[in-house]
Amino acid sequence: MGTLIKKGTILTAIDEYVGDIWCEDGLIVAVGGDLSGRAGAGDTVIDASGQFVFPGGIDPHTHFELPFMGTISADDFENGSASALAGGTTTIIDFAIPAIGGSLFDALAAWHDKAAKAPADYAFHMALTDPSEQVLAEIPQIVAKGVTSFKAFMAYKGAIGVDDEALIAFMQAVSKSGGLLWLHAENGDAIVERQKRFIAEGKTGPEWHEPSRPSILEGEAVRRALTLAELYEAPIGFVHMSGRDAYQAYAEARVRGQKAWAETCPQYLLLDDSVYQKPDFEAATFVMSPPIRPAGHSEWLWKGLSNGLIHTLGTDHCPFRLADQKIMGKDNFTKIPNGGPGVEHRMELLWTYGVGGGHISRQRFVELTSTNAAKIYGMYPRKGAITPGADADLTILDPAGTRTLSAASHRSNCDRSLFEGFDIRGVVSHVVANGRLQFVDGDLRVERGGGRFVARAPFDPLT
Ligand code: URP
Ligand code: ZN
Ligand code: ZN
Repeated sequence: MGTLIKKGTILTAIDEYVGDIWCEDGLIVAVGGDLSGRAGAGDTVIDASGQFVFPGGIDPHTHFELPFMGTISADDFENGSASALAGGTTTIIDFAIPAIGGSLFDALAAWHDKAAKAPADYAFHMALTDPSEQVLAEIPQIVAKGVTSFKAFMAYKGAIGVDDEALIAFMQAVSKSGGLLWLHAENGDAIVERQKRFIAEGKTGPEWHEPSRPSILEGEAVRRALTLAELYEAPIGFVHMSGRDAYQAYAEARVRGQKAWAETCPQYLLLDDSVYQKPDFEAATFVMSPPIRPAGHSEWLWKGLSNGLIHTLGTDHCPFRLADQKIMGKDNFTKIPNGGPGVEHRMELLWTYGVGGGHISRQRFVELTSTNAAKIYGMYPRKGAITPGADADLTILDPAGTRTLSAASHRSNCDRSLFEGFDIRGVVSHVVANGRLQFVDGDLRVERGGGRFVARAPFDPLT
C-alpha cells in the first residue's frame, strides 16, 4: 500500500516548494507536482495543504533503558522511540555502553536485544570506557558492523570516565578505523575535587551541581581534546555542548580549519541555571551533565546554530523520575542520577524558539534536526533527504497549531518535563516512518518492533 502526501510545502536543507510526495514499500518513490494519479483504493492520502513537510527527524543522542548511577533510565526503546515518533523524530541514535573491562561486542549485543522492540528506526554509537588491547582491537570490527561513531567521557572519573592516555589511544584507533569519536568534555579531576569539597562543606543540595562543574571546566576539556586531536590528526566531535566556554574553544579551532563537529541540546538553548533554585528538590529534575548554564551562555549556542558551526541538535534524552530515582541524591547532589527527558519535544521546540524566534531559517532547521546528522553519521541520503529512493520518513508540521508542554501529557515515563509550561507554536500533525502513517493529530499508531537497525557508513571527514 502506498502513501500520498498532497500539497504540502516541502522543506529540505536547501529548498522549499509546494508539491506532492508518493511513497511505496517504505521508500519515497516520487516527488513532484500533482501525483494524485498514483494513489488508488486502500492507499493513504494525507492533505498537507498549509503545512510543512520535512525529512523525519534524527535525534543523535538518546539513552533508552540505560543502567546509570545505580538505576536505569525510565524510558525503554519501545516507549522512548514512540515518544520520538510523536514529536516527529523517526530515527534515534542511542549509546551502547560497555561494562568496564567488557567487550564492545557484548555491549552491542545487549543494545540490539533492548532495541528489538523499538517502533522507530535506530542506530548505535559505541561508548569507549576502557582502553584495553581487546577493546582497541574491536573498534574496526564494530565499525564494520555499521556502528561508526564512538563516545568517550572526560567526566565521570571513577566510573565510565577516561584519562588523557586513554583518550589518545581512542582517538588514534577510531580515526584509523573510519569512525568519528565524540566526547563528553568536562574536566573529571576538577569536578571530583569540587564535589568532595562541597559535600564536606555541607553543600549537598542540587543547587551545587552547576558550581561543581562550571562552564570553564567544559571549555578546558574541549581545548585539551582539540589540542590532542590536532596532534594525532583525528577528527573529533563534542556532544551536548552547554555554554560559552566550550563553544568559544571549539569555534576558534573549527574556524582555523580543524576537523571538529558539535552538537547542542534544547535544554542548553532554552533554560538557565535559575532552574536549580526550584524548591522542594524539584531542582533535581535539571541535574544533568554538563549542567544548565547561567543566563547568557545560550546566546553563544544560538550563534553556533545560526552560523552553522554547531551541526546537530540532540536531546541527551536520559530520563529519571523525581519520585523514586532522582530522590536517591536527596542528601548528596553527586548521587542524583544525571539526565532528563526531551526526545518528544526537540523538533517543536527548535521550530518554535529557533525558527519562530528568528535565530535560524527553515532550511537550517532541517539541517539541524535531520540532514546534518544523516550526513555526519553515515546515513545520507537514505535518511535526511526528500528524494526518490530515500526512506519514507516524513514529518508534517502545522504552523498554526499550538500547545503547551507538560509532564502530564508527554509520552515519556518520566514524572517531570524539562520544559513544563513551554508554549509551542507549530505542532507536528502527522508522522510517516518506514512509509507507514504512525502519528496523526495526537494519535500514535506505532508497532512494537516495527523499527529497524540502521547500519551506518564509515565517517566521511568531508561532511
Ligand atoms: O546527564 C547526562 N548527560 N546523562 C546521560 C549521560 C551523558 O553524559 O550523556
Ligand atoms: Zn555525556
Ligand atoms: Zn548523553
